[in-house]
Amino acid sequence: MRTQVGIVGAGPAGLLLSHLLHLRGIDSVVLEARSRHYIEQRVRAGVLEQGTVDVLNEAGVGDRMRAEGLPHHGIELRYGGAGHRIPFEELVPGRAITVYGQQEVVKDLVARRLADGGKILFDVPDVALHSLERDPYLTFQGERLDCDVIAGCDGFHGVSRRSIPEGVLTVFQRDYPFAWLGILARIPPSAKELIYSHTERGFALHSMRSEEISRFYLQVPPDASLDDWPDERIWAELRARLETVPGFTLAEGPIISRDMSAMRSFVAEPMRHGNLYLAGDAAHIVPPTGAKGLNLAVADVRLLTEALTEFYATGSGDLLDAYSGNCLKRVWRAQHFSWWMTTLLHTFDADDPYGRRLQTAHLDYVTSSEAAATTLAENYVGLPFDFGA
Ligand code: FAD
Ligand code: DHB
Repeated sequence: MRTQVGIVGAGPAGLLLSHLLHLRGIDSVVLEARSRHYIEQRVRAGVLEQGTVDVLNEAGVGDRMRAEGLPHHGIELRYGGAGHRIPFEELVPGRAITVYGQQEVVKDLVARRLADGGKILFDVPDVALHSLERDPYLTFQGERLDCDVIAGCDGFHGVSRRSIPEGVLTVFQRDYPFAWLGILARIPPSAKELIYSHTERGFALHSMRSEEISRFYLQVPPDASLDDWPDERIWAELRARLETVPGFTLAEGPIISRDMSAMRSFVAEPMRHGNLYLAGDAAHIVPPTGAKGLNLAVADVRLLTEALTEFYATGSGDLLDAYSGNCLKRVWRAQHFSWWMTTLLHTFDADDPYGRRLQTAHLDYVTSSEAAATTLAENYVGLPFDFGA
């Protein structure tokens, strides 16, 4: 088998890349380790930046997102017994976020690729990458796929980054002393906008997916297991961390899905080796507090599409050569913002009173200074794609 671009992984990065390349007349094959059902049900991100929404709309895959997604013009920071709204419409006029589940984006992209005759091979767990520096090819289940370039879009635990010879990549990493327990519950949201709540018991986030489905996250110890968290304990903890302002009552309903995520910051540089280009979580991950991971994956594949379009149209590899450096400017901005939001909102060492006072001073500043709130708002809704160029 032969294609122009061999794509490993059918997450948001791999699927969107395949679709954007198709719109430019460039052929690709996507190899995905898991089943279609699995990738379409996996619950993860929910917040799309304005730029991500624009890319999906311009690529003609935004119909359901426009119909069912929830545009939000602010978030609440809750701490010390009070809520503080960060009003995007005042601080970053014309820019907003859309709450729309990652698995819905994945469903829309899979449906569109298949309708356009695109090739996505599911249930291919044994992909291997070969000859990255000359004529690259992929092998899987006794087959061989020759390609001009390989796009490694297979997430943090994928095979692509690990196929790069030792000594090529420089890795930057930070682990956090907590994890996130996430649930989806069949209950209308108890608030119109997202609530990021900081308490002495730990952080909690109230998000949503629709008028009927709420999404919640709890900061838990890094080694916590879902078995330790029966429904009653989850609701009691959510109440304790969210019912902290007068008049707010948390509505409870059946829990329909639960997940546990490690919290980590990670960047591997450069995002290219020979004819392998890494995109999305395969190259970098952020703690989810800033809601940046999926949005960064979209920004990467947008740049990779431009670079491959130039390469096929003119034979020039200039944009391909610039790919990693161009991506990394945005990646590091998002790394800093995600670390900043994480340290602002989570509860760290109880035995560090100085650190706790600093954290309160930081929260007070962000919620009382327009300059500080604007810093949060412009990063949260997403900086323009030409940021740092
Ligand atoms: P992935 O989604 O991980 O996709 C990789 C794909 O490759 C998967 O389908 C996987 O099965 C496949 N694969 C893996 N190994 C192989 C292999 N060897 N061969 C073939 N295929 C393989 N981001 C946001 O922007 N906003 C948010 O609100 C947000 N919230 C989050 C909340 C949580 C709890 C978590 C965990 C993450 C959140 N994120 C958020 C981050 C976001 O989910 C990820 O950044 C995003 O999934 C990255 O997309 P990707 O396509 O790069 O990787
Ligand atoms: C969601 C996830 C996030 O990481 C975040 O910061 C906000 C919302 C969500 O899944 O809805």
